[in-house]
Amino acid sequence: MKNVPISALVIIFLVFPADPLLAQSPLDELSDGDLADGERLFRVHCARCHGIDGAGGEGSNLARPRLRFAPDDEALIDVIGDGIPGTGMPAIWTLDDEQTARVAGYVRTLGRLEAEEMPGDPGRGASLYQATGCPACHIIAGHGTGIGPELTEVGDRRGLAYLRSSLVEPAAAQSQTMGYQDYLTVRVSTKDDSVEGLRVNEDAFSIQVRDVAGTVHSFRKKDLLKFEKIFAHSLMPEYGGALPERDMNDLVSYLMSLRSEK
Ligand code: HEC
Ligand code: HEC
Repeated sequence: MKNVPISALVIIFLVFPADPLLAQSPLDELSDGDLADGERLFRVHCARCHGIDGAGGEGSNLARPRLRFAPDDEALIDVIGDGIPGTGMPAIWTLDDEQTARVAGYVRTLGRLEAEEMPGDPGRGASLYQATGCPACHIIAGHGTGIGPELTEVGDRRGLAYLRSSLVEPAAAQSQTMGYQDYLTVRVSTKDDSVEGLRVNEDAFSIQVRDVAGTVHSFRKKDLLKFEKIFAHSLMPEYGGALPERDMNDLVSYLMSLRSEK
C-alpha cells in the first residue's frame, strides 16, 4: 500500500508534459508586432494563392478554426516550411524560422475570426443545386458524375467571393486558379467527327478528350483537321444571368456549407 502515492506521482509526471492542451505552443510568445509582421509576410508569400484575407482561391480557405493538415501549431509550421507533397501547397523556402512562426501566428488569428456570413439559405440552395443540373458535372459525397472538380468539401477551399464568381463567370474564376490547367478546353475535328471537351491527355502523336457527357474520345493527331486549345474558357455554363439573385445567394450558401467541419 505504501508505494501507491509514488506510482501516482510518476503517472502525473509522465502524463502532464505530453498533454497537448497543456504543452506550450511555439506561437504563444508572439507579440502584436510579430503578428503584424506575420500579416505583411502573408500578403507577400501566401495571399496570391490563399486570398488577401485568407478566405481561399487556388489555396484552401485558412479562415477556419481547424485546418486538416495543421491540427496543431507545430504541424502548421511544418506545412509552411515543407509544403504539402502531392498538392499545390509549396514549401516556402524564403522564410526563416522566426518569420515562419509569425506567419503561422497570423494564420491562427484568421481562424479565430467569425466565419463569412452566408448570403442566403443553404437548404434551399441544396435543392436548387439538384434542380439546376449541377450533378451532371460535379460529385458531392459520392453523388453526381462528370467533368467538373469534386465539390464535397468546396467550402473548405473556397470563400464567398470566389464561389460567386465561379458561378457567374466560370472562365474568369478558373483563370485565377492555376490548378485549372487541368481543365483545358480543346476542340478537335476529323473528317467525320468533331468534339469539344477537356483535354485528358496529350502526347506528340495523340490526344484524348473527355466530352461534357463524360465520354473519352481518342484521336491520332495526324487525322485531325482542326485542333484548338481554348484558354480561359470553361465548359461550365455561366449562371449569372440565368438565375435570380436569391437563387444565386442560396446556391453559394449551399456551396459554403460543404465543409469537413460543420
Ligand atoms: C502556389 C500557391 C500557394 C502558396 C504560395 C501558398 N499556398 Fe498554402 N496551400 C496551397 C494549396 C493549393 C493548398 C491546398 C492543398 C490541398 O488541400 O490539396 C494549400 C494548403 C495550405 C494549408 C493547409 C490548409 C488545411 O486545410 O489544412 C496551410 C496551413 C497553408 N496552405 C498555408 C500557407 C501559408 C501560410 C502560405 C504562405 C507562407 C502558403 N500557404 C502559400 C497553395 C499555396
Ligand atoms: C457542363 C458541366 C458543368 C456544369 C453543368 C456545372 N459545372 Fe461547375 N465546373 C465545371 C468545370 C469543368 C469546372 C472546372 C473549372 C472550369 O473549367 O471552369 C467547374 C468548376 C466549378 C466550381 C469551382 C470549383 C473550385 O474548386 O474552384 C464550382 C464552385 C462549381 N463548378 C459549381 C457548380 C454549380 C453550383 C453548378 C450548377 C449550378 C455547376 N457547377 C454546373 C463544369 C460544370
